[in-house]
Order: sequence, then C-alpha cells, then structure tokens
Amino acid sequence: MRAIAKELRLKTIAVIGLGHVGLSFAMYYASKGHKVIGVDKDQNKINLIRDGKCYLFEPQLEELFLQYNATQFFAAHSTDIDYHKVDTALICVGSPFQDGSVCLKAIKEVADQLEKFPHLEIMVKTTLPPGSTRDLFKNHNKVYFVPEFLREGSAFSDIREQDLVVGVANKHQQVQIPTILSSMNKKIRITDFETAELLKYSSNAYHAMKIAFTNEISSIAQEYRVDAYELFDLFKSDHNLNISSHYLTPGPAYGGSCLSKDLSALTTLEKGPSQLTLLRSIEISNMNQIKRIERLIYQNKMESLCFIGISFKPETNDLRDSLVVKLMKSKQAMDKVERLYFYDPLNTREHISNIQSLSMYSEIIELVDTIVLGPHRLEDRYVLELVKEQKKVIDLGYFDYPQELKDSPNYQSVF
Ligand SMILES: NC(=O)c1ccc[n+]([C@@H]2O[C@H](COP(=O)([O-])OP(=O)(O)OC[C@H]3O[C@@H](n4cnc5c(N)ncnc54)[C@H](O)[C@@H]3O)[C@@H](O)[C@H]2O)c1
Repeated sequence: MRAIAKELRLKTIAVIGLGHVGLSFAMYYASKGHKVIGVDKDQNKINLIRDGKCYLFEPQLEELFLQYNATQFFAAHSTDIDYHKVDTALICVGSPFQDGSVCLKAIKEVADQLEKFPHLEIMVKTTLPPGSTRDLFKNHNKVYFVPEFLREGSAFSDIREQDLVVGVANKHQQVQIPTILSSMNKKIRITDFETAELLKYSSNAYHAMKIAFTNEISSIAQEYRVDAYELFDLFKSDHNLNISSHYLTPGPAYGGSCLSKDLSALTTLEKGPSQLTLLRSIEISNMNQIKRIERLIYQNKMESLCFIGISFKPETNDLRDSLVVKLMKSKQAMDKVERLYFYDPLNTREHISNIQSLSMYSEIIELVDTIVLGPHRLEDRYVLELVKEQKKVIDLGYFDYPQELKDSPNYQSVF
C-alpha cells in the first residue's frame, strides 16, 4: 500500500528554461523519482543533453545528470512538448535587466504557451517584479510563485536545505500545496504573490548591501592598518545585534544619540577613503524617510494634532535626535497645525517649544482630531476607540497594531 501511495505522488514535471536554476531543479526532481522533461528554446542545449553532455558546472550536477539523463530526464524543445502529458510546469526562464527595466519576454512567451493547458499546476521560480505572476497567469487557478534562493556553487545543498516561501493568489484562502513541494519535507510559509516576488529582490538587495558595507568598512580598516578579517570576525561574533533579526523590522527613521553621530564620525575620519558611497548615503536615506513622514502628517491643515510618545525609540525617555521632536518642531507643524499636543507617560515633565503635554488618554479623545502613533504604545482598545470616534490616526510604524485598526478608513501608515 505504501509503495502505491508513493507512486501516486510521482509526477511528470516540465522544467522550462534549462539554465543554472532549471537544470539543477530538473536533476533534483529526477533524483526523487519524478519524470522530468527539460524544456528550452535553445536547440543547442537540447542537442547537448541528448548527446549526454552536461553543459553547466555545478558540484554534483554532472553526476546526477549522467545517472538520470534519458531514464528520468528527457529534453524537449519548447515548440515540441505536449503539455497534456505534464502535471506540473516549473518555470525557470531568465528575467534579465535590460534597457532600464526587467525583460519579461521569456516568461510572457511561456505564459502564452501554457494558457491553453488549464489542468497544469504552475510553479514560477523566475525572479519577477511584484504583480507579474498575478498579471501573467490570470487564467490559471493552480499557480504558485516560489522565489528561488539557490546559490551557484551550492545549488543542491541550497535546494535541499532552504525553507520554502510559497506565494499564492490569496493567502487568506485554504491552499492546496503541490505535492512536489510538500514532499520536500521543509518548513513552508504561505504568502501572497507580491510579497513572495518582492522577498526575492529584497534578499538580493540586502546581500548586495552587506557586501558593499563590508568592503567600505574594510577600505577604512586598510587606511588604519586594521586587519579587516579580524574586524569582521569580531563583528560577526555579535549575534545579539549584528548578526540577528534586530533592526530588520519596518519602522520610521532612526534617531537617538549614537547612530547618526557615529555614522558622521566614520564617514569623516581623517584618514578614511573618500569613496564611502554606501555609508554616506545611509544618512541621506534616513533624512528622506523623515521628509516622507513629514509629507504624510502635514499634507492638510489641521485644527489639532497629538503625538503619542516623543522619545527617540520605545521604552526610553531619551529625546536626543528624536524623530517626533523633529516633527513637532518642524516649520510644517507651525504652518499646518493650530493646536499641537503630545502624550507620553515617560516624558511628563518635558517642555518642548511650549507644546502642550496631555497627561490622560481621555484628553486626547476630548481635544484632538488627528493622532500620530509614535514610540509610546497605546493599548489596542484605545487605538480602536480612536478610529471609532472618527479621529484620523497616522501610524509611524513603531508597533504592529491590530489589523482592525489598519482596516479603518481613518487610518494611515508610513508603510
Ligand atoms: N542563477 C542563479 O544563481 C539564480 C538563483 C536564484 C534565482 N535565479 C533566477 O532564476 C531565473 C533563472 O535563472 P538562470 O540563471 O537559470 O537563467 P538563465 O538565463 O541561465 O537560463 C534561462 C534559460 O531559459 C531559456 N529560455 C528562455 N526563453 C525560453 C522559453 N520561452 N521557453 C523555454 N526556455 C526559454 C534560455 O534559453 C535559458 O537556457 C532568473 O529569473 C534568475 O534571476 C537565478
């Protein structure tokens, strides 16, 4: 019985696009017993495969290729494949950046070709801008965007070990996970197409930033005869802040007594190299974020506005380089707001440019029309009451407030 059940899980998979990603996945699924048809529009690649030649180098690839080619794995030109005989299409065509935008030519060709086969389970691995999968595969209802994170040089261990993120059309609906994914025995996180699509770009941008960051710091290290390898060895040994999930949470701009000060110091060191483009742009990026927040808050004239929390971050009363204090003292605040207040139980004795401090929540309800949720967390029942009382609520993003608040038409957020 068990053998039969296992047999039923085996599929015929068309892997479309036999580049590094496609060929690696073709071999992985062939090695799991599936019948795999490798599809490409490049006739040379098809010929090489049929001649038993593995045209890419990747550890373990050739070994698997020689083992499974022509038994579990077969090559077909894209004009010469019968998708009626296929269960699952794994799309791995390229998505190069050309002439100022992502070239979607290859994936469009594939989407057009697959449109006539509604029975297919479609898994998109090609890296795509948010919204592309929804747009390209409107007429299919079994479509999954599965961002691919493999690295050339460790493709097979990455395929085997990495957790899976699966983008679907509606993450709130019950989703049937394709067996070729569920049988990989991994942690699977379901999200919507756009989140999964943006996740891949975000991850690569972050990797690129880490590399550029390390190299800029290393260039400073060189000027000061500091061993950059030792420096980064020590840097990486801090798993509390440096190598951790800290600071990877959406929120407003940074402030406080350290980050801005130390960045300025680092980028103006006497012996430091002049080309510190990334490090210098961090402060510019933070200032742009503050301007964005200002535009959001002060877009219209207001009778009354109250900031909830004024410290530079939650759980402190330190006001040095506080974003909220900057926002309260800005020219826009003077121009656009008739009555300005703040409410902060940790800063009741502060006097900021004669801005009135409210000491009780009931005063907010009574006196204020627009509330900016800052670094002091209001209880959920209070924030929900604010929107029920038709107050306008602007969230700076310090806390993850309940969805019910975010769904209110009176709610706006930095994100
Ligand atoms: N290479 C990597 O390390 C890596 C890692 C993660 C994600 N990705 C992403 O995966 C995707 C594929 O990457 P790659 O490096 O394997 O790409 P690639 O460009 O090396 O290979 C793509 C293949 O698709 C074929 N192709 C193009 N149009 C086709 C069509 N209409 N029908 C059939 N085949 C067609 C091409 O001939 C080529 O062989 C890209 O979106 C890439 O960004 C790549």
